[in-house]
Parts: sequence; C-alpha cells; structure tokens
Amino acid sequence: MEAKTVLLIAVPVLLVLAALLAVATTVSRQRSGTGSLTKEARKADRSEPGTAVATTDQSEEARARFAETRQSLEPAGAGRSVVSVGGGLIRFGEAPADPETLGVSRRKFFNRSIVAAQSLVLGSFGLAVIGFLWPSLSGGFGGKVKAGDIKDILTAINEKKLPFYVPEARAYINPYPESALPKAKKTYGESILPGMEAGVVALFQKCVHLGCRVPWCQTSQWFECPCHGSKYNRVGEKKGGPAPRGLDRFPVEVDAGQVTINTGIIVQGPPIGTNTTGQEAEGPNCV
Ligand code: FES
Repeated sequence: MEAKTVLLIAVPVLLVLAALLAVATTVSRQRSGTGSLTKEARKADRSEPGTAVATTDQSEEARARFAETRQSLEPAGAGRSVVSVGGGLIRFGEAPADPETLGVSRRKFFNRSIVAAQSLVLGSFGLAVIGFLWPSLSGGFGGKVKAGDIKDILTAINEKKLPFYVPEARAYINPYPESALPKAKKTYGESILPGMEAGVVALFQKCVHLGCRVPWCQTSQWFECPCHGSKYNRVGEKKGGPAPRGLDRFPVEVDAGQVTINTGIIVQGPPIGTNTTGQEAEGPNCV
C-alpha cells in the first residue's frame, strides 16, 4: 500500500479514536457527579458544619429525639459528615471543602488517570505512525526515489555488466529488452509496463523466499540468493530454488530521461515459469 494511502487512513482513524475518547470522558464525568444524592443530603452538605436540617417528621417525639441525638453526637461529630436521625440530618466536621477539592474524588482521580494514560498511548501511537511515514512522503524508501538519467544508468550497466544499484530504493535497475515486450504485456500489470517500455525494471533486493538480500552473480549474470539458493534471471524471473515467485518490483517512471522508482508500491514478482526474456545462465552459478 502506498505510504500516502496509509497516512490518509491512519489520520482519520486517530481522529475518530480521539473523538470517542472525548465522548467517553464526558459521559464518565456526568456519571461520577452528585446526581444520586437526596435533596436533604445536598441541603445538609451545603449547610454550615454543626448545623441540623429540620426533620421531615414534625411529631413531638421525633423532634425531641433529634435534638437529644444532636447534643450527644456533637462532641464526637468532628470528622463525620452527615448523620441521619429520625428522618432529619445533622452535619458535623471541619469547614466545608471548596468545590475544587470536592470535585476531585478518588473515582474522578482514577477516571482522569485512565483517560490521561489512554491519551498518552494514543498520542504516542499517532506520532509514531506519522514519524514512520514522514520520510516516506518526502522521498526515501516508501516514497518516490530519483535514480538518475536513464542513459547514464544503462551505460553504467553495460560497461560493468552489473545491475545499477539504488541504495535509497533498496532496488536494482536492470535493462529490459525491447524484443521481450510482447510477452511482457501478457504477463505484467499496468503499473510495471511503462518502465519496461522505457527499457528498465527496478527489482526489490529482498528475496521472496525468506527475505535475504539477493546479490548479483557476475558469472551467471543472475541474482542468486546465498541463503537457500533461489535464483532469478536479469529481470527477476525465477529460475531455481525454493522461492515461490520472481523478485518483487517497483513501478518506474521515466520523465525527460530521469528515472524515478516508486517504492511506495511493491508489485509481486511474476509466477514460477515466467520467462519473458529467455535469458539463461551466462556462466557458472555462484550458489
Ligand atoms: S531467503 Fe533467499 S532463498 Fe531463502
């Protein structure tokens, strides 16, 4: 998948996750409020410490019991909040805490800690994704890599009998013969064909068997993997070993003679048996 596409998917996903987190936080705050307290309890909580809220039971007996209990509890009342007596409430204790202090209950503290931890994880993940993709969007592996002038590249290949290696793209450029194009059009997809028609292929250096870097064998003029012996011809079509297909490759653009390799798109190598160029080993194998 192209790096830009990944970024276009990752950013909205992160925004949606952040929105969900914000909604969850709001709901959690509303639930942890004082909505479940009774009217009398809220009234007592707002009253001065040591004051009593009149009992709802106005009988003589209830009022006497209320007054007696208040008197007896008052010395031990410090540190207690509200005592319910005969349908009434007596409030003791220190001066009322300020609303800020009351607001940060233990439950709220844990809720906020969890939200903060989630935000931190989400934020770190988002930054990591963007950091990972950023160099790809501005060039380098994962983006479009300029390889140079096509004439210079083909001259260097012909003179040295070596593929033109582009380290930034982790790719080898090799010539693709014009005579093989009719066969190539039946085998390769539209993303790869323009490069072949311009006369080059850009092959990913990674072996499609288990991922070793595949070196060039100067004597056979093939790519030969030292790990388990897979072999690929000059244009990356499989010739032997355990590899399940030919070498993967990248689309190539040639504009005003300048070659650009698009490493944001990795195209799977051709299936076993593909042999569009008919190139056999030109000497002893290296592996
Ligand atoms: S990794 Fe190349 S043949 Fe196994």
